[in-house]
Amino acid sequence: MSREQQAREEELVERVLASFDGTPDPRLKEIMRSLVTHLHGFLRDVRPTEQEWKRGIDFLTAVGHLTDDRRQEFILLSDTLGASMQTIAINNEAYADATEATVFGPFFVENSPHVELGGDIAGGANGEPCWVEGAVRDTAGQPVAGARIEVWEADQDGFYDVQYDDDRTAARGHLFSGADGGFRFWAITPTPYPIPHDGPVGAMLAATGRSPMRASHLHFLVSAEGLRTLVTHIFVEGDELLDSDSVFGVKDSLVKTFEKQAPGTPPPDGRDLNDRPWSRVHFDIVLAPAAAQA
Ligand code: BEZ
Ligand code: FE
Repeated sequence: MSREQQAREEELVERVLASFDGTPDPRLKEIMRSLVTHLHGFLRDVRPTEQEWKRGIDFLTAVGHLTDDRRQEFILLSDTLGASMQTIAINNEAYADATEATVFGPFFVENSPHVELGGDIAGGANGEPCWVEGAVRDTAGQPVAGARIEVWEADQDGFYDVQYDDDRTAARGHLFSGADGGFRFWAITPTPYPIPHDGPVGAMLAATGRSPMRASHLHFLVSAEGLRTLVTHIFVEGDELLDSDSVFGVKDSLVKTFEKQAPGTPPPDGRDLNDRPWSRVHFDIVLAPAAAQA
């Protein structure tokens, strides 16, 4: 590139940066300057044709058009580019042996049904019964009683209840840890499913040879007074999608053994499973202090 060309490009970046000099909010100024620096760095690196740049704008426009109260295509874009997981990593610094966080996803619903300890969150969802048990404690090893544990998952057909048109509530619920921090409930054994891929994000995945599939998982949102709220999942050991999760959500520490139980194996609470196979998993949850530093 000629010196003159380089000077022109650099001069433009400087002028755009300077346009934010009067920003009253210093954080906003920092964000805008960094955004411009990286955006121009990207442009000068990739050197898109004007047609390519328009194609990029058209893509973002389509992402916006598809987004409404029920479908958040921008979050899906953030998820599939790893930006959601990077933001989660930045904001949930590693602290002692606190359980790792992962992506929230779009399928959490407020006011899920309450189930007692040992209850069933399946609510009629299709799937193999799965007994989930563990305990909540803090990083000093003390049990956390009364932690609110929200759980949600897709059914065996790969759909969350909110993806059906019939207003059903299934495969979600909340419970509270007991005096010893313990919790136990019935759910269904997680199975893989695709993220919504009928929009521009799905087209981006297809064009880049990527799969929309998520590794099988069960979502948790765990909160307790004075402790850092944890958004996480557990994943199924042996799932072949663990290395190719479409939203980069898998962490080794969150991969758990779901032990298959042959039909007729008596469940821990004496539930009559009519000779169906079922599974069980153990997940201990460790919450960091609310204002945890690394
Ligand atoms: C989910 O696990 O529910 C999810 C996460 C990111 C994008 C789509 C779905
Ligand atoms: Fe999910």
